[in-house]
Amino acid sequence: MPQGSQHARACILRTDAKAFALNSYEHEGIQRPPNIDRAIPKRQAEFFFGRWGAGRALARIGLPTGPIPVGRTREPLWPRNVVGSITHSHGFAAAWVCRAEYAAGLGIDIERVPGTAELTALQNIALRPDEADMIDSLCADAKMTRPLLLTLLFSAKESFFKALSPTVKKYFDFQVARLVKIDATDRKLVLELKVELHPKFPAGYRGNLNYDLIEHDTVLTCLSLC
Ligand SMILES: CC(C)(COP(=O)(O)OP(=O)(O)OC[C@H]1O[C@@H](n2cnc3c(N)ncnc32)[C@H](O)[C@@H]1OP(=O)(O)O)[C@@H](O)C(=O)NCCC(=O)NCCS
Repeated sequence: MPQGSQHARACILRTDAKAFALNSYEHEGIQRPPNIDRAIPKRQAEFFFGRWGAGRALARIGLPTGPIPVGRTREPLWPRNVVGSITHSHGFAAAWVCRAEYAAGLGIDIERVPGTAELTALQNIALRPDEADMIDSLCADAKMTRPLLLTLLFSAKESFFKALSPTVKKYFDFQVARLVKIDATDRKLVLELKVELHPKFPAGYRGNLNYDLIEHDTVLTCLSLC
C-alpha cells in the first residue's frame, strides 16, 4: 500500500461467483439497489463481494458497516468522513478505506491480463502515443512481459480515475495521464496529468501509485491522495 496511507485498511477477497446466492445480501445485511436486482448473477455477485469487503475494511478502521449506496457516476457513496475504493475482477474483490482526515481520496484496481483481442483493445484505449515508445524498454527494466505491463498501466490509470473522480466529478479518459516511470524494485509507478482536471489536479500533477502481482497474471494497483 502507498506510503502515507498507514491509516487506510484494505480487505482483499478470493471470490467464487458460482458459490454466490442472491439471499447472501439479506443474510449479510447488504443493501441491493434495484439495478442489481435486475442484473445478471455475475454482476449481483461482484457487487455483493465488493460491498462485503468494504464492510470488513470499514470495521478495520473502527467504523460500523452501513449502507454504501451508488452515486451518480457509479461511485460508492461512503459514510461521511470516509474515502475509499472498490474493485472486483476474475475471482478477486477488494475494498480500501480511510478516514478522510488522513487521505483526500483512494483508488484501487485489480486486472487480469486479458486475451490477445482484448489486449489490443485495451492498448488502443489506455496507451498514449508517447507511452508506446517507453513500453518496450520498460518491459526489460521492470522484468515484465508486454501484456503484463500494458495491463499494469491500464489498472494504474483506473486506480487514478477512482481516486480523483470524487473530486473532479466528471469522466476523464486514459489519455489525460501519462506514465512517467515504474520502479520494479519497490513496485511503484508514477502517472502525470497532461491537462488540468480540477484546481487540485493541475497539468503536471503526479500520482504515485503502488502495485503488486497478486497472481502471475493479475495486478493490483492503488493510489492514496494526500
Ligand atoms: C469506473 C471504472 C474505473 C471501473 O473500473 P473497472 O475495471 O471497470 O471495474 P472495477 O471492478 O475495478 O471497479 C468497479 C468499481 O469502481 C467503482 N466506481 C465506479 N465508478 C466510479 C467512479 N466514478 N469513481 C470512483 N469509483 C467508481 C465502483 O465501486 C465499482 O464497483 P461497484 O459498481 O460494484 O460498486 C471504469 O469502468 C471506467 O469507467 N474507466 C474509464 C475512466 C478511466 O479509467 N480513465 C482513466 C483516467 S487516467
